[in-house]
Amino acid sequence: MSVNIVHYPVMKDEVLESFPVFDTGAECSMIDCTLGEGGHTEMLLDRYDNLTVTGLDRDSEILSKACRRLERFDSRFMPVNTWFDDYLKNHELGTVDFILFDLGISTFHYQESGRGFSFLRDEVLDMRLCAEGAVSAYDVVNSYSERDLADTIFNFGEERYSRRIAHAIVEARKARPVRTTKELENIIFNAVPVSYRHGRISPATRTFQAIRIEVNKELDRIGPALDAAIGCLRPGGRIAVITFHSLEDRIAKWTFRKHVSQAHPDIRLINKKPIEPTADETRINPPSRSAKLRVVEKMELDG
Ligand SMILES: C[S@@+](CC[C@H](N)C(=O)[O-])C[C@H]1O[C@@H](n2cnc3c(N)ncnc32)[C@H](O)[C@@H]1O
Repeated sequence: MSVNIVHYPVMKDEVLESFPVFDTGAECSMIDCTLGEGGHTEMLLDRYDNLTVTGLDRDSEILSKACRRLERFDSRFMPVNTWFDDYLKNHELGTVDFILFDLGISTFHYQESGRGFSFLRDEVLDMRLCAEGAVSAYDVVNSYSERDLADTIFNFGEERYSRRIAHAIVEARKARPVRTTKELENIIFNAVPVSYRHGRISPATRTFQAIRIEVNKELDRIGPALDAAIGCLRPGGRIAVITFHSLEDRIAKWTFRKHVSQAHPDIRLINKKPIEPTADETRINPPSRSAKLRVVEKMELDG
């Protein structure tokens, strides 16, 4: 069945190289924690006949898309509609060969979901990966206190004008609720200094990222998921994590560092410094330019 794929998977070669055990020909299993449209999973299933993949995504719409794309693999592919941290903490220990995280959201979310992830489209503010989520972007923008809004924008967007933007949102919503992405973009544009309005990135980029992270509790899920993922690996198994901004990368780095520096380390770092995409890749797929890949391997425990 043909499926209209819009997301270009990042660092495909580096992900392939990060897991040499698939080459042994023995039966292997992996969890793709961020299945998206299934780009990485399709590449791995095509390459290795001995591999089965459990693919997780909290977004049921993109998960259905991936299922259509991957149906030719029959029972070698199993989809699960769940948050990755919830799934991993209930998974059997010591059983998985490879766990992949390709964090954040997909091109599908910006271009096709209609849920207000992008200020380039005029859409209702929602940004939830799952429709049952308690809080939407509309709720954050229209009901958070000015202080909570400013903290969200600063902490999750690292936006230097967070207080001015939060103040402008609160002033604007006194007249009527802020309903759409374009309304929010305009408020942000007018809140920041003129010199900041036409920089390398839009002045709305960081605020939109921050609200999305807050709505889906994205950062809160990463540390617990990585801790649980280490438990799920069999000895010699590996985790690969692709992050897209410093907030995500910091959590991956410190979580792994905590495991490596405990009295009996349960993992070793395969690469001390994160691997970055090649110049060729960033030219062909500009969104990959901020990607960083970290790979760790589960160790045999003493005794
Ligand atoms: C960058 S995309 C993955 C793209 C995928 N590797 C590909 O090649 O098509 C990240 C996906 O993870 C999902 N996602 C993000 N955080 C999640 C979480 N905590 N639990 C489950 N799914 C999540 C998003 O819905 C999105 O579809």
